[in-house]
Amino acid sequence: MRMYDLIMKKRNGGVLSREEIDYMVAAYTAGKIPDYQMSAMMMAIYFRGMDPEETAALTMAMARSGDMMDLSAIEGVKVDKHSTGGVGDKTSIALTPMVAACGVKIAKMSGRGLGHTGGTIDKLESFAGFTTEISAGHFIRQVNEIGVSIMGQTADIAPADKKLYALRDVTATVDNMSLIASSIMSKKLASGADAIVLDVKTGSGAFMKSEQDAFALAREMVTLGNTAGKKTVAVVSDMDQPLGRAVGNALEVKEAVAALRGEGPEDFAKLCRTLGTYMLIVGGAAGDEEEAERKLDRVIADGSALRKLAAFVEAQGGDANAVYDTSLLPQADIVEDVGSLTEGYVAHIDCDEIGICSLLLGGGRETKESAIDLSVGLVLHKKVGDHVKAGETLATLHANDRARLEAAKERFLRAWHFSDTATAPQTLIKGVVSV
Ligand code: URA
Repeated sequence: MRMYDLIMKKRNGGVLSREEIDYMVAAYTAGKIPDYQMSAMMMAIYFRGMDPEETAALTMAMARSGDMMDLSAIEGVKVDKHSTGGVGDKTSIALTPMVAACGVKIAKMSGRGLGHTGGTIDKLESFAGFTTEISAGHFIRQVNEIGVSIMGQTADIAPADKKLYALRDVTATVDNMSLIASSIMSKKLASGADAIVLDVKTGSGAFMKSEQDAFALAREMVTLGNTAGKKTVAVVSDMDQPLGRAVGNALEVKEAVAALRGEGPEDFAKLCRTLGTYMLIVGGAAGDEEEAERKLDRVIADGSALRKLAAFVEAQGGDANAVYDTSLLPQADIVEDVGSLTEGYVAHIDCDEIGICSLLLGGGRETKESAIDLSVGLVLHKKVGDHVKAGETLATLHANDRARLEAAKERFLRAWHFSDTATAPQTLIKGVVSV
C-alpha cells in the first residue's frame, strides 16, 4: 500500500477501507509515514469527510495503536465521563465523587489543559501534593477501595491519536466531526471502562458552535461507543457562556467543593445532576432518572459526596484538609472587582474570551511546557440575562501580577455585550443522545 494512493483516493472523494485505515494509522505511529503526507490526508478528510464505517475504523485503529487498559480487576461496572471541553468546566471534580458516593465505580483518565480551556488534572493539583501520575495498579486498587480514581493519560494510551492530534492542531484540521469523534472515542475505548457518559458542549466556548453540529457529534460518538460494546450516553449542554461563575484552577475547585455542599451555582449544580443521573443509570445504580436524582440529592445532603472527594484527594497524595477549608487552596495576592462600563441586560458573553482572560492572568498554558499559576482567574458576578447598572461589578479578578491584570481586564470588558431589553434565559441542557 502507498500513502500517496490513499491521499489521492480521499482527495477525489473515495471511501477508505478498514485495511487502508489500519495501514495508515500503524505506519504513521511507527514513523513510516511523514507528517507532510498525513497532513495532506487530514486536509482531504476535512473537505471530503468520512462515512460511519471509516470513522469507526479510524477510531479502533487509533484505540489499538497502544495499550488497551484492562480494568477487569475492578469489580462491577466501571464508568468513565468525558467533556468536549469548555470554560469554567470543573464538572469532573464535583461529579465523580457524587457518583462514587452513590456506589458507581469511576475509573477515569484525564488530560491537562492547553490554550484557554482548563484541564481537570491541573485543577486537581490545586490540592497540595495531589498527583495523577499513579501506576495502573494504584489506579485499580483505589477504584476498588474508595470507588473513584482519576489518572493522567499515559503515553501508551492511543499514541496514534496523540501524534495525529498534535498535527491537526497546527494544520487547521481539528474541527472536523469524524476526526473529533474518533480522537475522543479512541482514548475512551482504550481506557477500559464499561460505560461512558459524554458531555458535548455547544456555543461560543465550544468546538461545536451550533447545536446541530453538537448533536451530530454526540450521535457519532454514542454510535462509536455502543458499537464497541460500551454503553454510551451523551448530554449536549450549553457552553455559550462560562459554566458556573469561577474560571481558573483553584477558584474552580472551590466552586466544585461548594457544589458538593449544595451551595454551587444553579447551572453547574444542574449539569452535575444531569450527567450524574446518566452515570448512575449506565452504572446500574438507578433504574430511572427519578431514582438517580433522589440518590444524588441524598449524597449531597448527607455530606457523603464531600467526604468522598476528601478520600479521593487523600488517596492520590493531596491535602484533604482543603476540601473542608478552601482557604488552604492557592490564593492570589491581588483581588480586584471589574465594573461594567454600560447599563443594560447581559445579552452575550464571548465565552472563549473569558477563558483567554484566565490564560492572560497566568492560569492556562500557552504551550505544553508552560507552568501555570493555580491561584489566578476570575469569578463572574453576572451572567446572560442579568441586569447590570453602570459601575456594577461584572466579575472579581484574581491575579499575582499587575501588568497581567490590566491586560486581562481590558480583554474581559470587550467580551461583554448588552441590550436594552431582557433576553430569554439560555437553556443549559439541550438534549440527551442515547442511541
Ligand atoms: N478533544 C480531543 O481529544 N480530540 C479532538 O479532536 C478534539 C477535542
